[in-house]
Parts: sequence; C-alpha cells; structure tokens
Amino acid sequence: ITCRVTLDPDFTVGEVPRRLFGSFIEHMGRCVYGGIVDPGHLESDTAGYRADVLKLTRDLGVSLVRYPGGNFVSGYRWEDGVGPVEQRPSRLNLAWHSTEPNTFGLHEFMTWAAQAEVEPMMAVNLGTRGIEDACNLLEYANHPGGTAWSDLRARNGSPDPFGIRLWCLGNEMDGPWQLGFKSADEYGRLAAQTGKAMRAVDPTIELVACGSSTPSMPTFGQWEATVLEHAYDVVDYISLHAYFTNDPEDRAGWLASGVAMDEFIDGVVATADHIGAKRRSRKKLMVSFDEWNVWYDGRTPGTTEDWVPDPRLIEEDYDVEDAVVVGGLLMSLLRHADRVGVAALAQLVNVIAPIRAEPDVAAWRQTTFFPFSLTARLARGIVLQTRPQVAAIPTKALGEVPAADAVAVHDPATGAVTVFALNRHQDQTVDLQLGLRAFGALTVAEHLLLGGADLDASNTRATPERVAPRSAAGTAEAARATETGFSVPLPPVSWS
Ligand code: AHR
Repeated sequence: ITCRVTLDPDFTVGEVPRRLFGSFIEHMGRCVYGGIVDPGHLESDTAGYRADVLKLTRDLGVSLVRYPGGNFVSGYRWEDGVGPVEQRPSRLNLAWHSTEPNTFGLHEFMTWAAQAEVEPMMAVNLGTRGIEDACNLLEYANHPGGTAWSDLRARNGSPDPFGIRLWCLGNEMDGPWQLGFKSADEYGRLAAQTGKAMRAVDPTIELVACGSSTPSMPTFGQWEATVLEHAYDVVDYISLHAYFTNDPEDRAGWLASGVAMDEFIDGVVATADHIGAKRRSRKKLMVSFDEWNVWYDGRTPGTTEDWVPDPRLIEEDYDVEDAVVVGGLLMSLLRHADRVGVAALAQLVNVIAPIRAEPDVAAWRQTTFFPFSLTARLARGIVLQTRPQVAAIPTKALGEVPAADAVAVHDPATGAVTVFALNRHQDQTVDLQLGLRAFGALTVAEHLLLGGADLDASNTRATPERVAPRSAAGTAEAARATETGFSVPLPPVSWS
C-alpha cells in the first residue's frame, strides 16, 4: 500500500497551541493521593509531593493541567481544601464512593502546578452548587486583595493572586451519572449566568462550557446547540470528552479511533458555527477536548463500596497497541489546531494515565507516555495541510477509513518539518511517500517509531523500561531519500 503526502509551507492549518498538550488530575482513586502526593514515600519531597511524578510530568511535556474533576467537582466544596490542613474536614467523595481527606486543595495544586511548570485549568461545581460559589472561588483565587475571600487567600499563605485564566463551567452536565445532572436548557442558562457573573469578578478569564460527555450520548448535537443558544456570547470554548476502547469484534475500528475523534470534533465545530451564524456573530468558538484517552471501561474497577480514602480505580495497564492509538488521537488533535485550542489527556497519574506511581518504587512511564511526550516535544510551529492519498480499509464502527494517516508540522524558526504517521493496517506495511520539494533540501534528523511488533508489551512494575520508541536509523525501517522527498516504510499497526 502506498500513502502519498505532498507538503507545502504555504498551505497551513494554524499554529500548534501549546495548550493542546494538557492533562488532568482529579480527586479520584490514586491520582491525587498516591500519585501527586504521597507523604513518606521514598521519592517524595518534604512537603509530600512525589518528585518522581513531577519529573515525569515535565518530561511528558504537559503544558496545562485541569483540576479538580471530573465527576468529583460536581459535589466539591472548594473551601474544604483551603486553610490549615489539620482543620480541613473529611468528606464523602460521592462521585467515586471514597473518602476525601481534603489535605490537597487549591493551594497545594497551585504549588504543584508551579513545580510541574504547567498552566492551571480550574473547574467549578455546577452540579450541587452555582453562581455564588463559583464567584467566591474566583475571587479567592484571582482578586488582588481587600475583600473577604482574597484576604483569606493571603492569610492562607498566598498574598499574590493565583491568576488562573482558564475555567470550566462544571463537568459533563449532560450525563445522568453526574451529581446535579441537568437538561441542556437548565445547564445552558446556568452556564451563561455563572460565566457572566465570573467575568464581572475577573474579565480576563476564559470560559469553557460543557459539551457532550461522549459522542454517543443520545443528546449529542442538540445538547451543544441548546447550551450555546444560551451561552455563545459568554464562553470561549465548548468542551468534548471521549474515551476509546478496543472492541475485540472491530479491531480495525479501534485502530481508526483518530477518525472517530476527527468526526466528533468536526461535528461540534459545525454545531458551534451553526449557532454563531444564526446569531450573526463574528466570534468563532474554540473547542476544548478536555478529557480524552484510551479507557477499557469495565476492565478495571471503577467504583468501590467501602469509602476507602484512595482506592485503586481504573488503573489501566497500557500496551504498545494502545500507544499507537494514542499517537493517532494526538494526530487528530493536531489536524484541528485551528479550532481545538485546549486538550487534556485524562488523567495524568495512576487513573487511566501515562504515569504509574506505586507506594514502594519509583514511578514509571506507561507505553502511552511516549507518543504524547514526542508529540509535545516535536509538534512546534505550524500545522500543515496534510492530505494523505491512500487506499481505504473497512471497519464496523466507521465504515471505510484510510489505511494510514499523516499530519505534518513545520517550524519556520528552525526549518524543521516533523511528520507524524500512523499505519492502521493489521498486516501490511504502508510506504509513506513524502513530497517535500517545496522545502528545498532536507535530511532526516530523527526517525522514531512504536509498534509493528510486540503489540501486547507493557511497562510494568517488574519491567518498567521494556517499551520505548525505537530509532529506525540504520535499520530496514529507515526512511529512504527519493527525488521529491522521502519514502518511509510504516510497519503494520505502528506510529512513527
Ligand atoms: O476521567 C474519569 C472520569 O471520566 C471523569 O471524572 C469524568 O468527567 C469522565 O466521565
């Protein structure tokens, strides 16, 4: 199979937003407690933060972290997590049926975010709470001083405002599982009114309204349209969430998860633009894909019945094939760089995460760490229009899909061109023929790939470094110069 791609620096999609490389930490399972903090662990610093997790977070190239949920936020009282730690209350975490000690809260998150070198993205509770509490939290976080909430922040150890710019108006409010689940009309009105009040507190913030929890929600499409009828003028982003699962009956469809992501993004953008057009608005709404990942729903436990503080919840062990799919999902996000302004891999540590942290050993990188860290490192500059010409293969879920995918980024500052490529075919190599004449002479600086073999391999506690991307240089997998660019063999089920 041949996949032809011709690139030109003048045909662009848009600049790669650094916020595309976000992640997410939720008060869920062992993400915060046991992942971000673990007092007494051999890898923790004196304040209890896990230094190994912090280092891996920086190595991952994460630019932004969403907090504190997720479903958790819809029952959260943020005040429980500020002030002297010994006076903070333990509460029931109703979303995850566990006990929340509140020893980690806003100040601890901001301290951690500074050390991790990430931008904070906060969510407010629009499940069990509303406008007043959202404004109080924003005033506490961002107001310089001289008011009750901002002075309390100073007394709690942070005289300078946190200056948090990005705010989610609730989480997955379309989901019947959500505390305070609402109809689109109820949520749209609340989001618009909360957003308006929050902007009165701090006009510099950016706001994200909840879109659909998955594209398979029965309300998908209508939910976004109704919410935006209320909130279009107030918000900057509409959110998307999607988790992808390997359906054993449709492996081809699973390997084409990036196509499903493309369709979801395109559908939400079309819906937002429809509302914008009806309003004769000149504003273009952006998309925040603030939860995405591979998640084998049901394979690992998702709830616990005995209110333990940090239960093991959905701690997926990812293999090479999962990493190939994650690489393809990142390509979908890049392709939409003109409309997806924020994205967050859910979650960062332990809970469906690229980083695994256990009580008695150093944290390690799961397979999915690698496509993320490489994309975050290499996708700098401008996404180019990339139109792969390739044969189609059948899937159950998505019909015919292209057998391979590619997306390219050009950094005008350095002249570097980075091509991300995916072969979805299960047993044939794809010859990627890159036409690069418009760039003049180029050489291969680096050629890394994952997959093609050992698709079941994982990094585990016993073998934490078994899987890593391999270099094709000097091997039969290496790119070959052609008259117009390069010919690159893409092994079956691989990401390069
Ligand atoms: O990331 C795990 C959960 O998935 C989040 O809490 C929720 O928002 C989503 O359904």
